[in-house]
Amino acid sequence: MKLFIDTANIDEIKEVNAWGVLSGVTTNPSLIAKEGRDFKEVVTEITGIVDGPISAEVISLEADGMVKEAEELAKIHKNIVIKIPMTEEGLKAVSILSKNGIKTNVTLVFSPNQALLAAKAGATYVSPFIGRMDDIGNEGMNIIRDIVEIFDIHGIQTEIIAASIRHSMHVIEAARMGAHIATIPYKVFKKMVTHPMTDKGIERFLKDWEGVSK
Ligand code: E4P
Repeated sequence: MKLFIDTANIDEIKEVNAWGVLSGVTTNPSLIAKEGRDFKEVVTEITGIVDGPISAEVISLEADGMVKEAEELAKIHKNIVIKIPMTEEGLKAVSILSKNGIKTNVTLVFSPNQALLAAKAGATYVSPFIGRMDDIGNEGMNIIRDIVEIFDIHGIQTEIIAASIRHSMHVIEAARMGAHIATIPYKVFKKMVTHPMTDKGIERFLKDWEGVSK
């Protein structure tokens, strides 16, 4: 499973990228707004840090507008992937873009049927939102399991990005279910890397070593 970071914050991306674990980045309008910077400027900067798919989302709700925005964004860098919301207009845009060789990530996916439609329209990636499903009392991980099963049975090449990840268990579960990618917030990456037993172990080694080196 590949790991993406779900943020538009340059410092966070640089820090986790330096660990050598990142294969890509996802952003969304809310994450970009948090940075208070120009959208294209941020996305361009990210392409200079991570050598992998960088998702940038369109704002238009009509297919024509989405396609126009997508064509502009795709000019920024070869690694740009256009994030398109899962709507009828979104599917039309995905179908046009995929025929023109522009990669897409269909976002705001909350059901296996939506994922299937997105894949049939030619999406490169689909992003089922686990955390937001959990929030409304549904088991978000079930969607991942169903989509993995359906895509496997039918040999569908679209990659599944487990999105809206809120904690480390989501990452483990997504990996066990067979999601191709998990897009993980910075805070969750920081939790994944630590373990109290590791800290204790280091402390103990250093203490013991102090005795040897005296
Ligand atoms: C996915 O690509 C989205 O950016 C993201 O995972 C949304 O997560 P949230 O539900 O925590 O906002």
